[in-house]
Amino acid sequence: GAPVEVDIGGLQVGEKITVEWRGKPVWILKRSPAQIAELPKLDPQLADPESKRNPSEFTPKYAQNENRSIKPEVLVVVGICTHLGCSPTDKLQAGPQPSLPDDWQGGFLCPCHGSTFDLAGRVFKNKPAPDNLPVPPHKYLSDTRLLIG
Ligand code: FES
Repeated sequence: GAPVEVDIGGLQVGEKITVEWRGKPVWILKRSPAQIAELPKLDPQLADPESKRNPSEFTPKYAQNENRSIKPEVLVVVGICTHLGCSPTDKLQAGPQPSLPDDWQGGFLCPCHGSTFDLAGRVFKNKPAPDNLPVPPHKYLSDTRLLIG
């Protein structure tokens, strides 16, 4: 599959867009500073907070950091659950929501068997999905031009 170029110059904080790469949905989400600040606090609740598991498959070197991203505010992940391949739905806003922990800070919920992921695509513990959402290979061609693949 050919790499996909995306201009994210117009992406607003809290906005998520989906582009197709190799037949898969790739999510690009712009996180707020408050959302970024919450990420490390979730570590104890996560199955693989530092993305140490199968890094070559799930998290390229340049995304093996606290935010799982090149730019702290921009998350780029493949939007396919690592359990059986359903597409998780957005549960971006904070606060109590049905079927989610009361202290939910936003993230993604897989409708098939209830796996939950934080705003870095990291899976919560004791969920059917074993791994974090994969970060696809990508790089920035300029400040706002992203190349996926
Ligand atoms: Fe997502 Fe099973 S496919 S939890």
